[in-house]
Amino acid sequence: MIARREFVVRCSAAAAAFAIVGCASLVVHTVPAPQGRVSLALADYPELAREGGVLSLLPEAESDPIFVLALGGGSFAALSSRCTHRGCTVDAEATRLVCPCHGSTFGRDGLVLRGPAEHPLPRYHTVVTGGRLLIDLRRNA
Ligand code: FES
Repeated sequence: MIARREFVVRCSAAAAAFAIVGCASLVVHTVPAPQGRVSLALADYPELAREGGVLSLLPEAESDPIFVLALGGGSFAALSSRCTHRGCTVDAEATRLVCPCHGSTFGRDGLVLRGPAEHPLPRYHTVVTGGRLLIDLRRNA
């Protein structure tokens, strides 16, 4: 049995900016999330080793992926991919997240840079301990 199911999703045309991760597609990693908590061994995700890195996760029992973004200095943001305007799935670009439906744009911290969305992307509580990134999907940051 495969512990972590992976599949590839389409990136927006603008995702050419993803040259920094070496391809035009972003792999979505399905991960366990017991009691709404995700625990990642950072050594298993080299894309998070440098500032600007991004990872897409689909926690089990969740319907939408989340993005984990390396903010630098050992800090991370874990953001919902669901646009707060009307619920489309946003695309992650190198420096921002963009909704393909009506163009809302969010910063890597989830804050609205451009509407029509009026509210930031939900951001989940994260903590790094013992080489692991813990994401609590039940707590907002
Ligand atoms: S659903 Fe994202 S901008 Fe409208």
